Amino acid sequence: NQLEMELEAIEKGGYEHFMLKEINEQPRSIADCMRGRLDAKNGRLVLGGFRDYMNKFQNADRIIITACGTSWHAGLVAEYLFEEFARIPVEVEYASEFRYRNPVVNERDFIIAISQSGETADTLAAIELAKSKGATIFGVCNVVGSSIPRATHAGSYTHAGPEIGVASTKAFTAQISVLTMMALKLGYQRGTLPENRYMQLLSELETIPSKVEKALQLNDKIKEIAAEFKDARNFLYLGRGYNFPVALEGALKLKEISYIHAEGYPAAEMKHGPIALIDEEMPVVFIATKDSSYEKVVSNIQEVKARKGKIIAVVTEGDTTVRHMADHVIEIPETEEAFVPLVAVVPLQQLSYHIAVMRGCNVDQPRNLAKSVTVE
Ligand code: G6P
Repeated sequence: NQLEMELEAIEKGGYEHFMLKEINEQPRSIADCMRGRLDAKNGRLVLGGFRDYMNKFQNADRIIITACGTSWHAGLVAEYLFEEFARIPVEVEYASEFRYRNPVVNERDFIIAISQSGETADTLAAIELAKSKGATIFGVCNVVGSSIPRATHAGSYTHAGPEIGVASTKAFTAQISVLTMMALKLGYQRGTLPENRYMQLLSELETIPSKVEKALQLNDKIKEIAAEFKDARNFLYLGRGYNFPVALEGALKLKEISYIHAEGYPAAEMKHGPIALIDEEMPVVFIATKDSSYEKVVSNIQEVKARKGKIIAVVTEGDTTVRHMADHVIEIPETEEAFVPLVAVVPLQQLSYHIAVMRGCNVDQPRNLAKSVTVE
């Protein structure tokens, strides 16, 4: 037992929890995921398993993404990516719903299954179903040789390394990294993404690990925010566009490990329900980076402020507008709108981590949750 404890301490590499280690590993895990695949200087982007199916992918009528939990959130980000860059319609499906609703699927559909463990029972069943209807199945998984990669026609591993903390962090950003590379490559091949823009995006993508590194340095600031809100009973997370899935993921992280009730919403949907909950007790986390929906998000922030909600805003470095409205701002490095989720999710992971630690929760093994759900 003593030996086991020492081994675990070594595996944690000096961190108090696996989750914190994994959050901090992200600059490296994202770089590992891109290594040997992305070479912006020479305009090269190669994903082995993807290349062999490029023809099928290019001619797909639609892409159906299926997953569960955090992987499903990565799928939502991918919906924005594939539709923007490759102009192929995308549907994102909870595997547990898809598998039981007798979905319309055929040979011209391309299915992407996203799974960290590669063992999630519902996701596995969903792809078996789609396969039986003739669709092509592509896996985006982390655990090499697991069941889902073995059941797919092709796939790309995320190469994030082992993830031990039950709440997914580095696997999520690696999934988005792979899906981003796929969307860019597909857009380029289909001619929906012009060459000069493609090159620009490749160069920017290469800077993401260093931007994530920079975002990680906000840790102390986030700890202070955590201390202020650790006793809240509810949290609301709001974002639009690419940041809508980030809001969902931020809320999921918090509820998973701190047991605080949290909801993620598209910011504009707030007025159709969640706004009724807002009072001076309610912390609202906005992801309000400078992007195409920035002005709209700013007016959503005003609506929350008018009802005395407490505002924590993740903003682009140098933002001054939101600073005057929010109780706390978290400034992250600027990047392409499509790549913001990779950076913006990091402070939300840290926020949930610190709140959970302050509440005395078992961060790496939260109650009632499992790392991989192999039963339905
Ligand atoms: C469980 C885990 C989550 C994970 C989800 C999907 O709920 O606790 O962290 O996102 O399963 O798992 P997968 O391995 O398929 O990504």
